[in-house]
Amino acid sequence: MNKQKLWAGRSTTPTNELLDEFNSSFPFDFVLWKYDLRGSKAHVQMLSDTKIISYSDAEKILNGLNQVEKEIEKNEKLWFEKNKNEEDVHMAIERRLTELIGDTAKKLHTARSRNDQVATDLRLWLINENLQTCDQIIDLRKVLLNLAERDSNQILPGYTHLQKAQPISLGHYWMAHYERLSRDFERFNEIRKRVNNNPLGSGALAGTTYPIDRDKTTSTLGFSSPTKNSLDAVSDRDFVAEHHFASTLLIVHLSQLAEELIIWSTDEFNFIKLDDQFATGSSMMPQKKNPDVPELIRGKSGRVLGNLQSILVVLKGLPLAYNKDLQEDKEALFDTCKTIKLTLEITSRFLESIKINNLRMDESVESGFLNATDAADYLVKKNIPFREAYYAVGRAVQYCTENDKSLADLTINEWKKFHEKFEEDVASHISLRTCLDNRKSYGGTSPDNVKLEISKAREITERDLESIKKQR
Ligand code: ARG
Repeated sequence: MNKQKLWAGRSTTPTNELLDEFNSSFPFDFVLWKYDLRGSKAHVQMLSDTKIISYSDAEKILNGLNQVEKEIEKNEKLWFEKNKNEEDVHMAIERRLTELIGDTAKKLHTARSRNDQVATDLRLWLINENLQTCDQIIDLRKVLLNLAERDSNQILPGYTHLQKAQPISLGHYWMAHYERLSRDFERFNEIRKRVNNNPLGSGALAGTTYPIDRDKTTSTLGFSSPTKNSLDAVSDRDFVAEHHFASTLLIVHLSQLAEELIIWSTDEFNFIKLDDQFATGSSMMPQKKNPDVPELIRGKSGRVLGNLQSILVVLKGLPLAYNKDLQEDKEALFDTCKTIKLTLEITSRFLESIKINNLRMDESVESGFLNATDAADYLVKKNIPFREAYYAVGRAVQYCTENDKSLADLTINEWKKFHEKFEEDVASHISLRTCLDNRKSYGGTSPDNVKLEISKAREITERDLESIKKQR
C-alpha cells in the first residue's frame, strides 16, 4: 500500500499501515460506485454550467468518468481487487480518473468535499433500496391476498394469550398480516421523502465560496430539493436511522408471522404442512422435518434490530458536523438492506408453498368453547344484562368441562339449569358457522367482510404498485 494519498500535502510522513487498514472503508463502500459516479457527473456538469471550470475540462472529466464506469461494469470483481488498498470508493474512483485523464481530473473536487459527496452517494443508493423494498412488500401483500381469498371460508380458532378465544376466518388471519405490511409499505414510502434531499454543495461543513448552483445538481440527480443547512447536511444520518427502524418493524412483523407458523407446523397443532422444498431434515433423527425458513426469518430479525441500535449509538455522541464515526453507518445499513431483501423474498415463496390442513382446523374449532361469547350474546338479545348472561354461560362451561362435553352437546334441559331463557334455538345460534358469519361489524371476521376487504385491498395494492413503478 502506501501510495501517496490524494489528500497528502500537510504532511510528508507516510501513514502507518495499521491506520490504513483501520481507516479504510473501500471493502464495504465499493457498492456505492454507481452512485458516486452519478454524483460526480452531476457535479462536473454544474461546475461547467456555472463556468467554475471550463467546458472542455468538464468534457474531459465526464469522458473519463464514463470510462471508469465502463471499466467497473465490465468486471466489478476485478476492479475491486485492483483497488482494494484504496481508502474508500470516492478516492479509488478519483485516482483512477487521474490515471486516465491526467491533471484535469484534479479539478473534479472543486467546491466539493468527501463529506457532502458521501452523504449524496448514500442517499442515492438508499432511495433505490427503499423502492426495491417497497416493490417486495407489494409482492408479499399480493401473496397474502391470494391466501386470504382462498381461505376466507376456513374457520380457525382465534387465540388470545395463546388460549382458544373465538372462531375466526383464516382469510381474516392472513388479512391481519396484510394490514401490517400495508403500514410497513406506507412507512417506507413516507421515509423516502426525507432521503430525497440533496446535500451536494454543502462542502466540508460550511458551504463554499464558489458560485455553485445547487438546484441544478438537485434536478440532475432527481432529488426533490437541496438540503437547507450545510452543517446538518453533512452529518445528518436520520434517513439511515429511519430506514433501520422501518426495516426493524417490518422484520418484527415477519418474525411474528414466522413464530405462529412454526407453532402451527408442530405435531400438536398440525394446522399446516411444510412443503419439502422449504423444509430441512436432521442429520441424526430420520423423521424430522424442520421449519428452518420461519426460524431464520425470526432469527434474522435479531440482527436487523441490532443494526438499528448500532446506528443510534454511533450517532448519539457526535458533535457537529462530520466525524469519522459516520463511516460506521454503512456496514450495518448494507447488512440490513441485504437481509430484508432476502427475507421478504423467501417469506413470499414460503407462504405460497405451505399446505393448510383444513380438516385439522375444522376439528380444532370444535373444542375450547369458542362459541361461549355467542351463547352469552344469545341471552343478551333476550334482554338479559350481559354480566348475568356471562355468569350463566360460565357455569355451563364449567359443567361441560366436568362432564367432558362441548356447549353443542347440551340438551335444552341442561341449558335451562343455567338460565331459564335458553330455548331450543340456542343450538343454531351457537353453531360455529353462525358465530363466524355474524361477526359483520366493520373490521370483523365474517367471511363476507373478509371478501369485501380483499377486493378493496387489491385495488389499493395495484395503485401502490403503479406509484412505485413511476418512481423507479
Ligand atoms: N469514507 C468516508 C465515509 O464513509 C468518506 C468521508 C470522509 N471524509 C473525511 N473528511 N475523511 O464517511
